[in-house]
Amino acid sequence: MKTSRRNGLSRRNVIKGAIAIAGVASLQGAAPVGAQPAAATRRDIVSFAQKASRLAKFEAAVKEMKARSRTNANDPKGWLVHAKAHADFCSLPNTAANQIHFCWWFLPWHRAYITVTERKIREISGDPTFAYPYWNWTSDRRIPQAYRSAGSPLADAVRFTPNRPVDDGEVDFFPNNPTLKQLGVAALAVTAYEATTPGRINRTLGGIARPNPANSFGNNRLEGTPHGPIHNYAGGFRTQDEGGDMTDFETAARDPIFFAHHGNLDRLWEIWRKDPARRATEPTSDAFLKHRFPFPWLDGTVMQIAVEETLDTLKLGFVYDNMQVTRPGTQAVVVAQAAQDRLPAVGSGSVRNPLTPQAAGDERKILEITEVEPPPRPMTVGVYVKPANAPADDPGVHVGTFAAVKAGGVIAWPSRTLSFDITDVANRFAGQELTVNLVPYRIRAQGAEEYPPLRYEAMRIVTER
Ligand code: C2O
Repeated sequence: MKTSRRNGLSRRNVIKGAIAIAGVASLQGAAPVGAQPAAATRRDIVSFAQKASRLAKFEAAVKEMKARSRTNANDPKGWLVHAKAHADFCSLPNTAANQIHFCWWFLPWHRAYITVTERKIREISGDPTFAYPYWNWTSDRRIPQAYRSAGSPLADAVRFTPNRPVDDGEVDFFPNNPTLKQLGVAALAVTAYEATTPGRINRTLGGIARPNPANSFGNNRLEGTPHGPIHNYAGGFRTQDEGGDMTDFETAARDPIFFAHHGNLDRLWEIWRKDPARRATEPTSDAFLKHRFPFPWLDGTVMQIAVEETLDTLKLGFVYDNMQVTRPGTQAVVVAQAAQDRLPAVGSGSVRNPLTPQAAGDERKILEITEVEPPPRPMTVGVYVKPANAPADDPGVHVGTFAAVKAGGVIAWPSRTLSFDITDVANRFAGQELTVNLVPYRIRAQGAEEYPPLRYEAMRIVTER
C-alpha cells in the first residue's frame, strides 16, 4: 500500500519534471504507468537466472534489439543506437564538456543509463517487472554463466577475456588488511563524494565538479578500481590493437555485461550512501542536481533524466536485492595471482620511507607516482611494495591497482599523478628503504603478453593528515 502510493507520486513527479523542463523529453514512453512495478528488484545475475522464464524474456529482448540493429543500424529500438549513447558521452577527450567519466557525473550518469536500459527492455520484453541484473564480481570472479553461455544474446559481444579468474587486486579486495577486508571493496572506505582539489579525486567516491576552472579531471576511487580493471578483464585483447568491446569505452556498452558491471558499481554507491554522514557529502548545488542527461528513447525522442532524480532509486523505480558487498551466504573469494605467474614489472622504484614520529596517529602515508604517461594500450597494473633488502622472489604487499582503458581508440588516462594509501605497510617497515614494483595483470585471451615500461617522473611517499 505504502509502496505503491509512493511510486504513484514519484512517477508523476518524474514525468511532469521531464516534460516541463525538456519539452521533447518524456519518461512517459518508458512503460504504461499502470504497468510500472512499485519498485523492480535488481538482482544478482546468479539468482536472476534461477528463474528460467525471466532469463528467457531478457534474452529475447536483447536478441530482438540486436537483430533490429543488424537490419538498420539507426533503428531507435536497436541495441546499437542504445550502446551509442555511451560512446557519445565517453569516447571523448577527458577534458570535453560532455565527458561523463573522470568527474562527479560518473555515478549518476551511469545510474540513469542503466535505468533507461532496463525500461527499454521492460517495454520490448513485455516483462514489467524486469530490472537489469548485476554482476557481483566480489563473489563471482568469472563472467557469470548467463552472460557467457554459447549462443546467448547476452554473450554476443567482442570479448577476449583472459582465461583466469578476476584477481583480488582487480576488485579492490585486500584480504590481508583486516579493515579493508571487512569492507570487501576498499573504495567503500572513502568518506566524501566530491573532490575539492584535484589531488583528492581518487580519495572520493564521486570525483570532481565539472566544468571546473582548471579543467581538472581524474578517476574517483571506485571508477579507478574496480571499474577500470573489470572493463579490461571482460574485454581483454587479442592482438596489440584489437581489444574487446569492454576494453574501449566507445564500444563497451555493446556488451550486455557492461550494464551488469555498472549495476554492481551502482549498488556499491547505494551501499556507501546508506550512511547519512556520507550521503550528506553529496553535492547540493543546482549545478549538480539540476543537470540533465539526454538518452535516446525507443520512439526516437530524447529522454532527459536530471541528477536529482537519480538520488532516490525509488524514483527511478528500482531497489537492490541485497545491500551487502558479497552475495548473502558467501564469503568474498580470495584469488591472488601466484608470484611466479606474474608478468615482469613495467616499473620499479625505490622510495625512502620516513620514520613515523610517535605522535602521528592519524597520519596517512601516500605513495605517489608522478607525471605518469599514458601507456600505448589498455593495461591493468598492480602496485606492490616491499623492503628494498627483501629477497628478489618476495612478491611484496599489494597496495593498489590502476587501469588504463581505451576511449575511442586512445587511452583515457585517469590522472597524471597516481596515489595509493600505503600507511599499513609503511608503518610496518618504518624508516626503511622500500621497493615499489608495478606489475601488469594478464588481460590477453591467449598467448604471450608484453608491455613496454611505464614512463613516469618520480615515486615518493608523502605524509598526510
Ligand atoms: Cu562509462 Cu564503465 O564506462
